[in-house]
Amino acid sequence: MLIQDLAQLRGECAKWRNSGLSIALVPTMGFFHEGHASLMRKAGALADKVVVSLFVNPTQFGPKEDLSSYPRDFERDSALAAANGVDVIFMPSVELMYPEGFDTWVEVPGLAQRLCGLTRPTHFRGVCTVVLKLLNLVAPDVAVFGEKDWQQLAIIRRMARDLNLTPRIEGAPLVREADGLALSSRNSYLTPQERAVAPSFYKGLAQGRALYQSGQRDAAAIKQAISEYWAAHFPQGTVDYLHIIDGPTLEEKTLADDNCRAIAAVYLGKARLIDNISLAEKA
Ligand code: PAJ
Repeated sequence: MLIQDLAQLRGECAKWRNSGLSIALVPTMGFFHEGHASLMRKAGALADKVVVSLFVNPTQFGPKEDLSSYPRDFERDSALAAANGVDVIFMPSVELMYPEGFDTWVEVPGLAQRLCGLTRPTHFRGVCTVVLKLLNLVAPDVAVFGEKDWQQLAIIRRMARDLNLTPRIEGAPLVREADGLALSSRNSYLTPQERAVAPSFYKGLAQGRALYQSGQRDAAAIKQAISEYWAAHFPQGTVDYLHIIDGPTLEEKTLADDNCRAIAAVYLGKARLIDNISLAEKA
């Protein structure tokens, strides 16, 4: 069922709740791929009813970013949602979500002013604000987010903890193409040539993981191995950042341990790609 109206959404969710049914929410910006589909299926396993929000949230885009060109394909999205057990697609207008005079924001500065937040200073404020609004509208038992956006997930967990939100926040594993490239709606910006070299972004991170698993604990040495791989195999990419971080706190580490992740962003043509991998996880 497609719902575009706030009162109708609240009504449908209240009806379910009153009949004792649990609800899972999957917030998205649409242009679905297998990563989104995996979250829908996880949501279906965690609750009786699944709501997917499809809203290209303008407040999380910077002035020079891709809001107007962000890919959209509602017909395809609604077929994919139906095939993955989604009960409601909630697709509100910008006017409904941000009416005249909208002036309230949620910020988690300690976790947001690093990694992607340095090049996208207002991004996570937009994400937190819209996610809190969606959680308030649906009032789900659980909301599911992908580990693809590791920093986003950490920030949302912190917001939920700090503001005593009732919904449980669940993470879901990053889904990749067969060649290793992390699935992303923004991969559609890549030219065939760029798409062909894009897996090297992930393969560099995997080199770092292999080095960690061979016993290296010095974060600088792990980063250097990754950078050298990219320099040799991925000269088309312009690195925004590469860090070895503690997974939950996003703190940069000088000595790596099993909680660490290699996390990075690169520019490739018109796209900005992000990826992250656990150093300890077996390939
Ligand atoms: P979007 O980029 O559409 O992603 C929606 C959800 O799908 C996020 O939780 C994201 O982490 C997850 N996802 C994307 N690619 C994935 C992949 N390859 N594997 C696993 N999960 C993946 O993230 C957003 O939208 C927005 O910021 C949003 C949270 C909806 C707020 O507007």
